[in-house]
Amino acid sequence: MDRKAYIIDVINHGSSRLHFKKNEIMEGGYVSKEDAPKVACYVLHLAKKECAYPHEAEALFSSNCAGCHGNDGKGAGGVYPDLTRERLLGFDQE
Ligand code: HEC
Repeated sequence: MDRKAYIIDVINHGSSRLHFKKNEIMEGGYVSKEDAPKVACYVLHLAKKECAYPHEAEALFSSNCAGCHGNDGKGAGGVYPDLTRERLLGFDQE
């Protein structure tokens, strides 16, 4: 699984294994399965990684994800996981 596939998986199925905050999990399905790859690409872009995302992905992120992760993906000052870090918590890149 690459970083994009991991992000898509979290969007579709949620995440409860990081124990980021006690008793707080992320539900799956904030966006549709069709939109998940577009939003994942936008998340990669926020982390300064190449990924061509359609224009609508930015709006999808800001209305469905930014409430917790922040418009810049940095997790609202540590309240939620920073999606732009080099190593995501649930996906250790080499
Ligand atoms: C209600 C708040 C909330 C919303 C909305 C939300 N998330 Fe999350 N997200 C979390 C929490 C909390 C975690 C950590 C869950 C855990 O501990 O396993 C998380 C984890 C993640 C992770 C894993 C981070 C890592 O370091 O491994 C990704 C990727 C992610 N979210 C992306 C998204 C995307 C994309 C959206 C919009 C489609 C979104 N999130 C919407 C709260 C939220």
